[in-house]
Amino acid sequence: MKKVCRLNCNLTTKHDAAYIMRRIGMKEVNMTNYDILLKQADELLESEPWAVSAMSNISSLIMQSLADLNWAGFYLVRNGVLTVGPFQGKPACIHIQPGKGVCGTALQKDETILVPDVHEFPGHIACDSASNSEIVVPIHSNGRIAAVLDIDSPLKNRFSVADKAGLEQLVKLLEEKGEWS
Ligand code: SME
Repeated sequence: MKKVCRLNCNLTTKHDAAYIMRRIGMKEVNMTNYDILLKQADELLESEPWAVSAMSNISSLIMQSLADLNWAGFYLVRNGVLTVGPFQGKPACIHIQPGKGVCGTALQKDETILVPDVHEFPGHIACDSASNSEIVVPIHSNGRIAAVLDIDSPLKNRFSVADKAGLEQLVKLLEEKGEWS
């Protein structure tokens, strides 16, 4: 008897994740191509390594390349305090103390902080009430943290392990090619 294929009858050509998700009724996830994003960021850094120019264009690049964001940008360590730098989105909190909020926690712990639901994160600083999930990656220069990359989404669980890896690679590129002093 012929087997009935209920999910996908042409697995050889259609077994990509997006196709299967559509067939089972899940919203298609708009996944970022980090290879392209990293190549574009590399070209921007080759044209101008000054960190201010790089952060400005890279915050725009992130906003254009990742779906479902409401804020993407940088906080710079200035006199020991995180101070808002180039970004895309609504005007944000200007100063964040070490250990405060998601950004200050990433600075204090010197590690990437991925927050699936900001309302569950003790001490989260709500600069934009639209934010529901967030990721913060520290950026190093001369053996210390020079800045953090901060990205917010109105969706809960927006940032995957793949986003974390891709954004950490982007920060590594900024560390290697950016002029931070
Ligand atoms: N939510 C951040 C504050 C910065 S805004 O998201 C732009 C935090 O808790 O550190």
